[in-house]
Amino acid sequence: MSVYDELKNELRSRPKRWLITGVAGFIGSNLLEELLHLDQQVVGLDNFSTGKPENLAEVNGLVSEKQWRRFTFIEGDIRHRDTCRLVCRGADVILHQAALGSVPRSIEDPLGCNENNVSGTLTLLKAACETGVPRFVYASSSAVYGDHPGLPKVEETCGSPLSPYAVSKLADELYAGVFAQLYGLETIGLRYFNVFGPRQDPDGAYAAVIPRWIAALGRGESVRINGTGETSRDFCYIKNVVQINLLAAVTSNRAALNQVYNVALNQRTSLNELYRALAERLSDHGAPLPTTGPLYGEFRAGDVLHSQADISRAQQLLGYEPAYTLDRGLDAAMGWYLKDRN
Ligand SMILES: NC(=O)c1ccc[n+]([C@@H]2O[C@H](COP(=O)([O-])OP(=O)(O)OC[C@H]3O[C@@H](n4cnc5c(N)ncnc54)[C@H](O)[C@@H]3O)[C@@H](O)[C@H]2O)c1
Repeated sequence: MSVYDELKNELRSRPKRWLITGVAGFIGSNLLEELLHLDQQVVGLDNFSTGKPENLAEVNGLVSEKQWRRFTFIEGDIRHRDTCRLVCRGADVILHQAALGSVPRSIEDPLGCNENNVSGTLTLLKAACETGVPRFVYASSSAVYGDHPGLPKVEETCGSPLSPYAVSKLADELYAGVFAQLYGLETIGLRYFNVFGPRQDPDGAYAAVIPRWIAALGRGESVRINGTGETSRDFCYIKNVVQINLLAAVTSNRAALNQVYNVALNQRTSLNELYRALAERLSDHGAPLPTTGPLYGEFRAGDVLHSQADISRAQQLLGYEPAYTLDRGLDAAMGWYLKDRN
């Protein structure tokens, strides 16, 4: 039995009380779905800035009535101290996902990025300490590697940040480290690489590449690639991200605490390869693919050229075993996008 299967059995027999921030977003709602399936007690916080009530409604439809009754939703903001104290009270673990994502958004709105991602996280860290929550697992990002050229990325070697978003995630890691040292909070930071899967928003100026391309190709529209398409990413299916959050939340390995971890597959896929993988799958589903291939444009400011995660720290200290390869993840994501959008 895998470490993750053992963990799930343990959680079923001894349920915990969880707080998920950003619960109406892509990653938060997937964490909620898994925790409710495991009969956990969950409080979720979201201000619906990018998250959607439909994501919560979809989870409601996927779990039993009894499981759904174990969920309490609070509409509110992580920048508000009273709200943070309210939602933290009684929690065994916090899975902190709330943030304004996207590098380009942060370049357009650096103050908003800082307020939500840095002040918001700091407010939540403070509330966690004040209310005695022992463990704080939070979403960081591969953006913190900045301009460091080394591949694969190892946790201890970062370059200079290339965007306000990267600065905000690095600041979160620094604050989490200080809260661990000064106040004894158990923190674990998860540096997500490019996550994809069900409920990831395909629309809007800041949509991530996989849902955006599936939506465009499904309508028979060409997609735009910033640069030559040889830019590469370590795409990671959401189920792997859910797995590592739960491993981080319950680990009793002291050496695993107060660390940051890469979360991906240790596999590099260029945007041109991704395009072919998506186009093939869509064509198998009978989608009206565009007659022209991708349109190539300028490389985007703030983006890193290549990204690939060394995941050995997560494997050794947390028992992380990503069960979804890129292909398996793309098949699963495609099923969801086509089911929901036809
Ligand atoms: N999706 C990825 O590939 C990826 C990669 C690296 C890091 N991350 C990080 O993972 C986390 C989750 O990302 P996601 O992809 O699910 O994004 P998302 O936008 O779908 O979810 C974020 C959620 O947080 C909520 N939120 C934002 N600001 C808030 C605030 N001030 N108070 C309360 N709620 C607030 C939003 O309404 C939304 O529901 C974020 O911290 C993001 O920076 C995501």
